[in-house]
Order: sequence, then C-alpha cells, then structure tokens
Amino acid sequence: MNYYVLTLFPEMIDAGMNTSITGRAIASGTISLESVNIRDFAEEKRKGRVDDYPYGGGAGMVMQAEPVMRSYEYVCGRIGKPARTVYLTPQGSVFDQKMAEEFAQEENLIFLCGHYEGIDERVIEEIVTDQVSIGDYVLTGGELPAMVMMDTISRLVPGVLSNSDSAVSESFSDGLLEYPQYTRPEVWRGKSVPDILLSGHHGNVDRWRREQSISRTLEKRPDLLDSAPLDKNDRKFLRKLLEMQEQT
Ligand code: ADE
Repeated sequence: MNYYVLTLFPEMIDAGMNTSITGRAIASGTISLESVNIRDFAEEKRKGRVDDYPYGGGAGMVMQAEPVMRSYEYVCGRIGKPARTVYLTPQGSVFDQKMAEEFAQEENLIFLCGHYEGIDERVIEEIVTDQVSIGDYVLTGGELPAMVMMDTISRLVPGVLSNSDSAVSESFSDGLLEYPQYTRPEVWRGKSVPDILLSGHHGNVDRWRREQSISRTLEKRPDLLDSAPLDKNDRKFLRKLLEMQEQT
C-alpha cells in the first residue's frame, strides 16, 4: 500500500503517520507514505501562494486549481498508472469499516487535503474519484481525516498488525462491538476479573465473550444488530436479553 498525500501541511501528516503502528509499518516497508507540499507547485509569479479570493465574493480564501493539479500530476508520474484519488470533505460519503476494507484492496491511494474555504471546483472535477467525510462535523482541513483513513486502512493491510488475528476479532469487523478485556492483577482496587476468564475452559470463554459482544452492542449500538451476522445461539441469547429488558 502506497499513500500519497497532497497537502499544505506535510509535516503534520509525517508526524502523525511516522508514529506507533503506522510508523513501524512505514519503517519496515509494509506501507509507504509520500507527503507532497502543494505549495511547492505554486505558480512562479505568485511566490508560494496557492490561495485566492472567491469569485462572486464571500468570506475566506479558495485554493487554486493549478498548484493542486501540478502536485497531482507529479504524484501520477511517480506512480506511473491511474490511482484512486480521495478528496476529504464534509460533503463526502461517510467513512466506515466497509469502505476501509474496499480501499485496503488498492495498491496506491492519493489523498487531497483542502484548507481555507475549499478548493477550486474545477480541479476537483478533474482529478477526484472519491469524496469522503469522516463524520458530520467540520475540521480546519483534510489532514486529520486523511490520517484517520490511512490509519484505519493500514491495519487491514497484511503484515501491518503483528498478530493478524487481532484485526479479525475487533469491533465492527464482525458487525459487533468488542468484548471487554482484562489483564493482571487479578484483583485491582477491589475489582476482580470475571471468574470465567480464569477457568481455562476455552469453549466457555469464547461463548462468554460472544455474549458480552452481543449485550454491549445491544446496550451501546443497537442499530448494528440489524446487520450483524448472528447464529442460532446468538439469536437465542439476544431474545433472552430483550425479554429481560422488557421486564425492567
Ligand atoms: N474537512 C473538514 N471537515 C471534514 C470532515 N468531517 N471529513 C472530511 N474532511 C473534512
């Protein structure tokens, strides 16, 4: 997986991504990252300026089409073939795990980060294949959303997580929230670890964890239960929970 980020703040992308698990994956070559400063592609006469007043008036500044286009063309030259180009915007489709799984299949991804009041619409029409929002709130720029996407996608790339199983059993990948976790000590400030986890009986532990996932999802995100793949035992347990809810 090779990421290319078109941005006015490459140092922000590099600082965030070269840390922790994504940092390790970049260092080992499992993923690669190139942050491209759009300012380096400013028109000669504009001396590093890449924004201008909006036609029609109004507050704020708009990023010009040409520097964005040139930075995009530079990246296309590096890749040597067409790549999906994601524009981060609150107007996009809302990012979720399913979208991450789809993007994780790509070999190259280009992210376009806007600032100010936006980017000249003409270059968006020309180069963008996907418009993505990370939620219904407005950030100051597309850098954090691009990092949210790259972080989520990276952990789905084989070899990025040290124990590839941990990607499989986590919240959302099987449509349910994750079960609670505990580690030593066995009693912490008077609170004990659930007995079943100390029993050594793997079958019972698995069943308990599954039921915890279901009851947590019912409590915190009942909307997810509509599409979660539940087997016969799961549905029986869920019915029991719903009956108990009705009685209280
Ligand atoms: N840029 C500003 N806000 C954003 C959001 N919520 N998602 C993606 N890009 C953005």
